[in-house]
Formats: sequence, C-alpha cells, structure tokens
Amino acid sequence: MLEHDVIIVGGGLAGCRAALEIARTDPSLSIALVAKTHPIRSHSVAAQGGMAATLKNVDVEDSWEAHAFDTVKGSDYLADQDAVEILTREAPDVVIDLEHMGVLFSRLPDGRIAQRAFGGHSHQRTCYAADKTGHAILHELVNNLRRHGVHIYDEWYVMQLILEDAQAKGVVVYKILDGQIEVVRAKAVMFATGGYGRVYNTTSNDYASTGDGLAMSALAGVPLEDMEFVQFHPTGLYPVGVLISEAVRGEGAYLINSEGDRFMANYAPSRMELAPRDITSRAIALEIAAGRGIHPDGSAGGPFVYLDLRHMGREKIMSRVPFAWEEAHRLVGIDAVNQPMPVRPTIHYSMGGIPTNTDGQVRSSPENLIDGFFAAGEAACVSVHGANRLGSNSLLECVVYGRRTGSAIAQFIQNRKLPQVDEQRYLTAAQQQIQALLDQPGTTRINNLRQAFQDGMTDYCGVFRTEELMRQGLEQLQQLQQQYQQIYLDDKGKLWNTEIIEALELRNLMIVGQLILTSALHRQESRGAHCRQDYPHRDDTNFLKHTLAYYSPAGIDLKYLPVTITMFEPQERKY
Ligand code: FUM
Repeated sequence: MLEHDVIIVGGGLAGCRAALEIARTDPSLSIALVAKTHPIRSHSVAAQGGMAATLKNVDVEDSWEAHAFDTVKGSDYLADQDAVEILTREAPDVVIDLEHMGVLFSRLPDGRIAQRAFGGHSHQRTCYAADKTGHAILHELVNNLRRHGVHIYDEWYVMQLILEDAQAKGVVVYKILDGQIEVVRAKAVMFATGGYGRVYNTTSNDYASTGDGLAMSALAGVPLEDMEFVQFHPTGLYPVGVLISEAVRGEGAYLINSEGDRFMANYAPSRMELAPRDITSRAIALEIAAGRGIHPDGSAGGPFVYLDLRHMGREKIMSRVPFAWEEAHRLVGIDAVNQPMPVRPTIHYSMGGIPTNTDGQVRSSPENLIDGFFAAGEAACVSVHGANRLGSNSLLECVVYGRRTGSAIAQFIQNRKLPQVDEQRYLTAAQQQIQALLDQPGTTRINNLRQAFQDGMTDYCGVFRTEELMRQGLEQLQQLQQQYQQIYLDDKGKLWNTEIIEALELRNLMIVGQLILTSALHRQESRGAHCRQDYPHRDDTNFLKHTLAYYSPAGIDLKYLPVTITMFEPQERKY
C-alpha cells in the first residue's frame, strides 16, 4: 500500500496551490498529488482572461467591499457572504504572492500589474497575462511543487475515494500506463478535480473535465451542493464551442446580431457586453431564437451571433488577446482583425460541487463535516459563486481557497496517525470492476452512448429549462444508464487502455448529469444561471437556500442548507 501524509487529487490550480501551502507550512510532510493528466495539462492551463483582485493599479476607487458586492449580486444573492468576504479580502495578497513566485502578469507602462474590465465587475480589477493567464500561473506553481519535493503521480486515474465511518482514509488509483492498481492511504485527502463540462455536447472544457471527483464523492455518500447551477459562457466559438475569452469584450469587442445591432442594449443597458454571463448567454440565446442569429453565409436566422473586434485594431488585438485571434484563425479560418467571429453560448463552469466550509473541509450534511476530507476549486462549492459566477473569480477562488485549504490540512494532520485501511478488499473490488468492463459482452460503443447522453443533457437541461423537459431528460437518462451495462471495449489489454478510462468517466458523467437534472427539477424558481421558463422569477421566500443532493443508485434525496448573509441583503438584480 502506498502511504503519504496527504494525497491531493487533481493537478490544476487549486490542488497545486494547496500542495504548495502544505509544503511551505511543514516541509517534513509527505505530500502527493495524483492527476489523470500531467498537471501542466490540467484544465486550469486553459484559463484565459484573468484573475480579479482589488490591487487598485488602474482604478483607485476600487475596494474589496465593491468586489464582494459585485460577486454577491452576480451570484443572484445565493453566494455565502462570509466566503465571499474571504475571497475578496485575500485577493490582492494571493496575486502578489503569485508574482513573487515568478508569474509573468501583463504590465502597465509603469511596471505595475495591469488590470482590465470584466463582466459584472464594477471596476477594472482583473489581473492577467495577455489571454493565457492560467498557463502563466500553473507553470509557476508546478515548478514550485517540484522545488518543494511534492510527489506527483501523473497519468494515474483515481477510481474510488475511501471513506469509512465519516473519515476519508485514502483513494484507489489506476495507473493508465500499465493498468496497475494501488491503494493509497493518507491522513488527509483533498479533491481538486475540477469541473464537468463534458456532461454537455458543447463546452469550453477539455476532454478530461468529466466530473470524476464529484461522482466519486457522490458514490461515497457525500452530498453535492447547488448542482443545478451550470454556467454557459456567452462566447464559445461556433461551431466548436471553445472559449473566446471574456477578455475580448473586456478590451472593447461588441456583440452584434443579424441586424447589425449591439443587442445587449436591450438586456443590460448599463453594462452592455460586460453584463454577467447568465444574462449575456440568455440574451444571445434569445436573439438566436428570435431569428436574429446569423448563418455561416451571413444570412439571418442562423445559430450564432457575431463578436466584433474590428474596431479595436490589429495592435490591440495582438497584444491583449492574441490567443483569441489565434483560436478563431486556426479553428474556423477567421481573421478577427478583419472579420467578426461567430459565437454562441458554451458550457463553461460548475457553480456547484462538493460542499465545504471556508477551510475547505467537506460537509456530510448541513450540520456535520467529514474527518480528513477537503476540497477546493471548481470541484468544490464553498459557495462564493452562488447561482452565477463572475468571470475572473474562478482563478481567484482556486488560489485563495487552495491556499486556505492547504493551510487547514497542514494543521489538521499534525499528530494524526495514518488510518487503518483493508488494502486487499479495495484492490479486489477495483480489479473486479476493471475486469467486468473488459469482459462485458455488450454491443454499445462508449462514444455513441456518451454522445446520446451529452445531446440529451444539452436538450433537456440547457440555458432554458421546464419541468416537462427535465422529466424527459431524467427518463432518457435512466434508459441510457441501463445501456451502460451493454457497452463493450475493443481494447482488452492493460497497456495505456484509454477505453477503460472512458468507460469509468462515462459512468461518472451520468451520475453528475442525474444530480444536475434532479436538483434543477426541484428548484422551482429562476435564479442566476438556472432559468425556468415555468417559474420565471426568483423566489427568495422558498428558494433562498442551497440544494444538497445525495446520490444512491436507487435515487437522489434532497436537503437544503441556509445561505449565509452577512453584508448585503438580497435585492432585485438589474444591470
Ligand atoms: O472568458 C474567460 O477568459 C474566462 C474566464 C473565467 O471563466 O473566469
């Protein structure tokens, strides 16, 4: 059995930042990080536009209180305000700390860190490294992990969380290279496994964003919080769905419909293209539904709108958002200096996740915490984003709550012993699970089943939702889950058998999908990213509360958790 003081699952920003904090706090600890890709290929590397923090380099009127208010208003008042206060107060400090580690932020002419406008933020406070901010931060963090001797198991897939008697004791891991299975026991386990964009058929997320940590937690009996809140990013490049950063609009680009109008004037006149994402995505979807979308031949009635950068000029485009230009050029042959880009909403982010307190410790219920289990980043729900996240608050959350969780873990494991784990029992179960997949004599291709599932989630639980649609979605999902018993694998070997991983991921995607649909069905109101056409208004009397969804193969039970309101009373949300 492998043993470490702490095992962190996930090699993105939150996991790396936590590992670094633990190592800084107590260099004698044995810290391991396990990830199904190399950490530098984690989805955090794809983060583009930046990280919010009130450095006041550009806007001296800014304050952490203003940042907190924007975040809470953006969340449609569902965010926990104690968590938001921590996020926004600690933001400047974590940015400076990253800079001291060597992160190459873009600069103002006087050498200070540059800051740009972003959706839903009332001040220019987003720090950035052109439009490759995640790349710049993650590379420095991973370098630092190496320097601190953190053990990295890269390209190992975690199959199971070992949780017994309300205590996390370790994980079961599968080495993708050769199929070796190991049990790792640890004094503390942290999940920083990112999001689940691949639940849907069009997403800005990478292929690895399959909600594994969420599904493994759910299978171990941990509730998932606020899963109904799924963020659509307004500007996915049509038709591929990859992210065209909000930074492009932050730097001045326009959204235009088939009539040539900047239609955001009708939806959020005071913020225009820099309204929060839920509002902007709905606006685009409504324009398309009303026949004011555009076809690839330029005619009206098509499936996208235009993101127009042309007035920004080549110099600004190439210096501030070069990656956006490159993506459009490489993927759809558009030269954004001279042509508008075709865009439409794409699945981008999960506001919900594994429920934690502000030290990253995971909740088992509204009242109780799980011993030795921690989570941070997109996989977690602390909840700083509530019903709708503001752009550039996600990198910030990873770093602030990665650091806090690392610090809490370093304290937690002092004077604790390694837990007792029945290694053989877990090994045998995992081996049987893999063998059953290899031996399954079915006829269903994984890819076909996954596509049907992703199409269903997109049709039945997208930007606009109704009870009827979601009930159809749950019915279809049940049928697809039965078909999962009929999948077959072509590759029967152990060496680099990615079909095994795809099969395990598909099971996870379906569990996450079921949790999203069920939580969404029972939230009979519209709030943030959750837009019910049959319940078009926010209902604070009945739904100013977090959903906690408990999965079991027999069905999903729901409980609710109060929202923490410390600074800002809920108001009507207007932009
Ligand atoms: O649009 C973007 O660059 C994305 C940023 C974010 O999701 O925070």
